[in-house]
Amino acid sequence: MSEEPLQVVQITTITRETPTVRTFSFSPGFSFRPGQFVMVTIPGIDEIPMALSRADAITVQRVGDATGALFQAGPGDKLGIRGPFGNGFPGKKGTLAIAGGVGAAPLRPLVMKGCVDCLLIGARTADELLFIPELSRKSKVLPATDDGTTGFHGPVTGLLGEIPLSEYTQICICGPEKMMKAALHALDAAGMTRKSYFSLHRYMKCGIGVCGSCCIDPDGRRVCRDGPVFPGDSLLHSELGKYTRDASGRRKTV
Ligand SMILES: Cc1cc2nc3c(=O)[nH]c(=O)nc-3n(C[C@H](O)[C@H](O)[C@H](O)COP(=O)(O)OP(=O)(O)OC[C@H]3O[C@@H](n4cnc5c(N)ncnc54)[C@H](O)[C@@H]3O)c2cc1C
Ligand code: FES
Repeated sequence: MSEEPLQVVQITTITRETPTVRTFSFSPGFSFRPGQFVMVTIPGIDEIPMALSRADAITVQRVGDATGALFQAGPGDKLGIRGPFGNGFPGKKGTLAIAGGVGAAPLRPLVMKGCVDCLLIGARTADELLFIPELSRKSKVLPATDDGTTGFHGPVTGLLGEIPLSEYTQICICGPEKMMKAALHALDAAGMTRKSYFSLHRYMKCGIGVCGSCCIDPDGRRVCRDGPVFPGDSLLHSELGKYTRDASGRRKTV
């Protein structure tokens, strides 16, 4: 199935980022563009898509079977990796980035490359915010938390009203679909969807455009092959924020 050979990597270190998120560093690393992803085989369990948060790392939120099994792994354990796949974010300077939860993982390399002037970053609580010290050294960072434990009290999209959107060359976004839908509406109202890029986290099987499990309505674009990053104006009348699909292709309300 794979157009990229499966490469075996060894976990070198595991960093506890937040109570639910860990970064798994491995060797060897990969050459990649910010926003690209890899298909990660957890031996005996499953193969799942993960953004590269560094050339040699993935940053994982524990949500189910495969991510739960990965959290049992330790340094020295092996993973299979195919990729990197997908288009990634345009690498322009002067970017406004908007991250929600583990959506900070694919945006991290864009910030570390010096492309991002301002990062709006949201999480449920202060201790779930990702990478803040490191990202603050490269960009202005404005946090938001659902419970108000730090920064703006409310969804990260609540900060958009305070930002001079037209001053940025582009706006790059990754997070939960409800948050991305709210961002898309806010950017549409401001006439900024043409300058915006959204990274979608959808269920995937093959990762290379063959199986059809990641297609989005209404035009059948494949998140793995045509994305995972899509221009905002191309998503205005899509299924983003309305429904996703499970492993058998059935629709699930977001
Ligand atoms: C291009 C891409 C990049 C991604 N990058 C990251 C990343 O950097 N870090 C990270 O933690 N996760 C990332 N994801 C999401 C990750 O692939 C899923 O969380 C993972 O596949 C879940 O596997 P599981 O077996 O643990 O959970 P499952 O048992 O499959 O599912 C558990 C719960 O998670 C939900 N879920 C499953 N797959 C996804 C998904 N793709 N997106 C959102 N919810 C999902 C299910 O609906 C269910 O509610 C990315 C997904 C894509 C497509
Ligand atoms: S995951 Fe198979 S076509 Fe995208």
